[in-house]
Amino acid sequence: MDLGLKDKVAIVTGAGRHIGRQIALTLAEEGAKVVVNDYFEGRANSVAEEIKAAGGEAMGVKADVTNADEVKEMVKKVVEKYGRVDILVNNAGIMPLDPGHSPGGLKTFAQIDRKGWDDSFDVCMYGVMNCTRAVIEGMISQNYGKILNIMSDAGRMGEPRLVAYSAAKAGHAPCLPYRQRAG
Ligand SMILES: NC(=O)c1ccc[n+]([C@@H]2O[C@H](COP(=O)([O-])OP(=O)(O)OC[C@H]3O[C@@H](n4cnc5c(N)ncnc54)[C@H](O)[C@@H]3O)[C@@H](O)[C@H]2O)c1
Repeated sequence: MDLGLKDKVAIVTGAGRHIGRQIALTLAEEGAKVVVNDYFEGRANSVAEEIKAAGGEAMGVKADVTNADEVKEMVKKVVEKYGRVDILVNNAGIMPLDPGHSPGGLKTFAQIDRKGWDDSFDVCMYGVMNCTRAVIEGMISQNYGKILNIMSDAGRMGEPRLVAYSAAKAGHAPCLPYRQRAG
């Protein structure tokens, strides 16, 4: 089945491993030019190399999605190389279980401190906003764009030991009416 992704330019954030990596590989298999973003440069480059080795087109870009300047710089590099951004997959997210990048373990509402809240919101909420803001004007002016936010059941139902993560994921919900308005 042709998904119509041939030569589309797609940025996948947090694509250096697991879910984001698989999204990047699948987009590349469908013919998209994939920008593999990750906080860790080695992860981003290794997935980009994997795509290229399989005959696809990709570039690895290290950028911290919580940093609006780094995100803008990433989008600038992408537009310089590929001319546009057609698809943004806001996948980067942290759960308190990631030992490489962690607010430090599962915590209940009573246990979590301000830093734990900030860490979850920085990536799962402001990261999504930074990346979306960096591509949205270009998408509007080219009259084409797809933005996918990887949410979580935690954001729909809440998880007792992932309270900040759940709240940050629930924060994606206001994006939905925009998608509906945009058609
Ligand atoms: N794994 C699950 O069971 C599950 C369930 C529901 C939703 N999700 C969501 O799916 C997405 C991917 O989950 P995963 O399990 O593959 O995560 P993961 O932690 O395995 O991988 C996330 C990647 O994002 C990168 N990353 C983290 N912070 C970043 C930042 N500030 N800037 C750029 N890159 C950053 C990490 O380096 C990592 O390579 C997340 O948004 C997560 O919330 C995961």
